[in-house]
Amino acid sequence: MIEPRPCRGDSLETMQDSTQRRQAQARHTVPISGAWRRTARGAGLLDDDGNVAASIFAEMSALAVRTHAINLGQGFPDEDGPAEVLEAAHQAISAGVNQYPPGRGMPVLLEAIARHQQRFYGLTLDPETEILVTAGATEALAATILALIEPGDEVVTFEPFYDAYGGVIGLGGGIHRTVPLRAPDFQPDLDALCAAVTDRTRLIIVNDPHNPTGAVFPRHTLELIVELAHRHDAIIVTDEVYEHLTFGAPHIPIATLPGAWERTVTISSGGKTFSLTGWKVGWLSAPAAIVTAILAVKQFLTYVNGAPFQPAIAVGLDLPDSYFSSIATVMKGKRDLLAAGLRAAGFAISVPQGSYFIVADATPLGFSDGAELCRRLPALTGIVAVPIQAFCSRANRAEYAPLVRFAYCKKVELLEQASAQLAALSSR
Ligand SMILES: Cc1ncc(COP(=O)(O)O)c(C=O)c1O
Repeated sequence: MIEPRPCRGDSLETMQDSTQRRQAQARHTVPISGAWRRTARGAGLLDDDGNVAASIFAEMSALAVRTHAINLGQGFPDEDGPAEVLEAAHQAISAGVNQYPPGRGMPVLLEAIARHQQRFYGLTLDPETEILVTAGATEALAATILALIEPGDEVVTFEPFYDAYGGVIGLGGGIHRTVPLRAPDFQPDLDALCAAVTDRTRLIIVNDPHNPTGAVFPRHTLELIVELAHRHDAIIVTDEVYEHLTFGAPHIPIATLPGAWERTVTISSGGKTFSLTGWKVGWLSAPAAIVTAILAVKQFLTYVNGAPFQPAIAVGLDLPDSYFSSIATVMKGKRDLLAAGLRAAGFAISVPQGSYFIVADATPLGFSDGAELCRRLPALTGIVAVPIQAFCSRANRAEYAPLVRFAYCKKVELLEQASAQLAALSSR
């Protein structure tokens, strides 16, 4: 007997069915092994069932879009950087600077970074061997951590910490030890710092000025870190992306302290200083042998990036001193504006000494869980913020539960509007 031939529609339906069946099977059966799990765990994104949770930043940004709320969650400025820098990128694109730049970075940028470190900090660097251009500070951090640790090595950071640290330490198989920074001033307890650094410590990562707390560490704390690094033969990795955004004492790069240079990797980027976070041009500097070790990893991450943006960031780094002092003055004004708004709304706040962020304690408003407050904040006030728990290991989240981070790197009008809207909290 001849079987009836399936008509076109039948066969399509069969294909769809089998595709769906295969997708369902894949969802349930294929074990996905690999380093992703320890990376997600390190960033605090692995739940008890082994699933990767969306980061709170992604959740809050989506909430801001969905509710048309003012997004004070993510730390990106809403104004473009200096016109000369933007123009230099346009010119570079028009002039054909559009192909792979050299692996260590374009000489014009390497030389500008060296001049910048000399001008602001008195550090003399060899642009050919002691500097490496990276895809933002993020790649500099990732390449440095992956290059310098062995599985099982300990890496010390302060807590709360920028989430990338936990993820990359996990990826590299490192063990993350943290030293708590507590309200109101978010300075470390020096005994706790001494206890955290041991002979098992390979790296001490120091983010100064600090995200999310806005803390700036005094010289004596930085000196202690250098002493501990010597005592335990550790390397110091600094994250100085907010180096030009301090509001009191000037920024002190650890590499300038006696005995620090030979064991310090200094990391920064153009994103915050020039309000160009999307360009992702970063850099690191260290003794030549350390740079070469990091380059061995970095060349297989991105290889290179941002050809036309590199000469443009070089123009930025050579801007006069007045540019750098004015961005700090303007940002301080914005900090004060949002701080007043948050206080008036009923938060207890810690006044930050640097960076883009204010930490606000929601306890006086009757909220003990910052994550819950952040989920409700758009409906209550039309504002989005992020809970500090997003910057903590799962084990320590409870300690930071009522704290929320607000970004003030926004236009003055927006911050005024946000302050007015936040007032709704006090009149609830
Ligand atoms: C402390 C800290 N480090 C690094 C970065 C990432 O810098 P980049 O955009 O240059 O990769 C950020 C960005 O928010 C940050 O806050």
